[in-house]
Amino acid sequence: MTSMESDKCWAECMDVAVEIARKAGQMVQEAVKQEKRVSSKSTPTDLVTEADQQVEELIISTLRERYPTHRFIGEESSAAGEKCVLTDSPTWIIDPIDGTCNFVHSFPMVAVSIGFAVMKELEFGVIYHCFDGTLYTARKGHGAFCNGVRLQVSKEKDVSRALILTEIGAKRDPATLNIFLENMKKLLSAPAHGVRIIGSSTLALCHIASGAAEAYYQYGLHCWDIAAAAVIIREAGGCVIDTSGGPLDLMSRRVVAAGSREMADYVVRQLQPISYERDDHQPIVQS
Ligand code: IPD
Repeated sequence: MTSMESDKCWAECMDVAVEIARKAGQMVQEAVKQEKRVSSKSTPTDLVTEADQQVEELIISTLRERYPTHRFIGEESSAAGEKCVLTDSPTWIIDPIDGTCNFVHSFPMVAVSIGFAVMKELEFGVIYHCFDGTLYTARKGHGAFCNGVRLQVSKEKDVSRALILTEIGAKRDPATLNIFLENMKKLLSAPAHGVRIIGSSTLALCHIASGAAEAYYQYGLHCWDIAAAAVIIREAGGCVIDTSGGPLDLMSRRVVAAGSREMADYVVRQLQPISYERDDHQPIVQS
């Protein structure tokens, strides 16, 4: 394929992603009113509901029918034992319900996230906020948008004027919680304006893209939490990197994102690492 052909092809795929994200979002809106069947995965606080599985099934079966040669990484398929490996093939990276715990409690921060990578490069991202219908989209080289309005990150470089977002992750053992709280304490005593936890990594990352917050960091999230949002933040002018300060590794389960590189580097310097098994289960390279 020439680059013009692939550009056209990925643009069409993104239109399909938008259509499916809206459909899936409506399914989540209906499901939130029903009784939820909840169980847990890796830890008692890593929740899954029947709705997560049904929404993922809807998204993947629709896409697979349309793009039989493409590959799929989905949160619930991975939990069910499917390999989570990123190859050079066109790959859809899907979180059917990001913010499952919020969904269980009807706390209104829940999103459908669809990212797309080719040759291991993220090409586009679509995130649909299921409670208020906000749609975040971005395609590499074409800008980031919220309901069609262009997004721009905050260019604040001074942490004492920053709002910082994070998420807790599934591990709750005392050692992990200590590091988590120490990291937060460092940023609060910088002093940042505040640190927030909203219960949805993808929506928190969208707030970095929109400039509503200056930085985000987390250990323990997954490739389906980052894939779509990374394109949206980068296209809004921000940076998404590894917690070591190096390039983002989608499978590493850790991320720092910020409006400016200076802000990202500041956050990187404050963090003490929390180790999680990689999404692709390859050995962890310590840094
Ligand atoms: C989780 C949420 C949560 C974050 C976890 C994610 P899920 O996704 O985004 O806020 O702390 O790391 O895995 O399980 O609700 O799709």
